[in-house]
Amino acid sequence: MGKMMARPATLLLLLVVAVTVADASKSKQKTCDKGWECSGSVYCCNETITDYFQVYQFENLFSKRNAPVAHAVGFWDFQSFITAAALFEPLGFGTTGDKQTKMKEVAAFLGHVGSKTSCGYGVATGGPLAWGLCYNHEMSPSQDYCDPNYLYPCIDGVQYYGRGALPVYWNYNYGLVGDALKVDLLSHPEYLEQNATLAFEAAIWRWMTPMKKKQPSAHDVFVGNWKPTKNDTLSKRLPGFGLTMNILYGDNICGQGYIDPMNNIISHYQYYLDSMGVGRQFSGDNVDCAEQVPFNPSYKAATS
Ligand SMILES: *[C@@H]1O[C@H](CO)[C@@H](O)[C@H](O)[C@H]1NC(C)=O
Ligand SMILES: *[C@@H]1O[C@H](CO)[C@@H](O)[C@H](O)[C@H]1NC(C)=O
Ligand SMILES: *[C@@H]1O[C@H](CO)[C@@H](O)[C@H](O)[C@H]1NC(C)=O
Repeated sequence: MGKMMARPATLLLLLVVAVTVADASKSKQKTCDKGWECSGSVYCCNETITDYFQVYQFENLFSKRNAPVAHAVGFWDFQSFITAAALFEPLGFGTTGDKQTKMKEVAAFLGHVGSKTSCGYGVATGGPLAWGLCYNHEMSPSQDYCDPNYLYPCIDGVQYYGRGALPVYWNYNYGLVGDALKVDLLSHPEYLEQNATLAFEAAIWRWMTPMKKKQPSAHDVFVGNWKPTKNDTLSKRLPGFGLTMNILYGDNICGQGYIDPMNNIISHYQYYLDSMGVGRQFSGDNVDCAEQVPFNPSYKAATS
């Protein structure tokens, strides 16, 4: 690439150069093919999620999701998660860094999901952390989540309350995720409560995608792809699990001290670390965001 401005006289030399360059970039960028779960990417040369996270672990993490009192019985399963993850493993989701980093990323992502979809409470059987994936949509929406937006205008009669694994709220967020996944979620937000694979895809897309240009994604900060600027450091935005909450929820969760909603997300992350066999002692630095200045104001944040 970038060697295309050949003059005829140098063609032979250029061919040699081109072949050499292609060889060099091939050996540097070896891609691998692991079947349907991961293919055509350098990340697929690493272990993939099913190499270290299996159905019994998923069942342990979300052990109460099919209890009779749960609200999405029979909806969520391991296969949907892995099928959705397969879109993002070639981009580094659960496939970046050493094995512990990979397992931690899955625990962190699912920690957010578990906390946001939990119906656990203090006296719930199995403890309050065993109830992740209890919901797949908001039960009693307090508003219609329709905001005037010329790019993604609300469709008449369609409601944009929270749905999915990292619940999506508001017409423009449904529009945005729908564009990314090439599914018309603006017209059919209900797909997120009808199709668990799609619900996980939307959630992993959110984890992998910066909220705004020039900002890191939750994935980037968690796996160490991001370095804080001086401004970030002054705002106490340092790499770690805490910053993933900052990115996803802004001042709904962060910069407010040790509030329950923040502690609840951290508790899920650490419970999953224990449950997956990593151990919460490896939670990493900067687990909370109690004193961080939010990247973005929460006003109608993508998730809340
Ligand atoms: C996984 O892949 C990434 C991208 O190629 C690489 O940076 C990382 O070192 C790999 N990890 C292992 C354990 O091979
Ligand atoms: C669920 O969504 C996935 C991902 O978009 C799609 O491949 C699949 O066909 C959908 N399943 C159904 C039953 O619509
Ligand atoms: C630094 O942070 C402040 C407050 O958050 C913000 O207003 C300012 O634009 C930031 N400066 C840079 C260079 O990002």
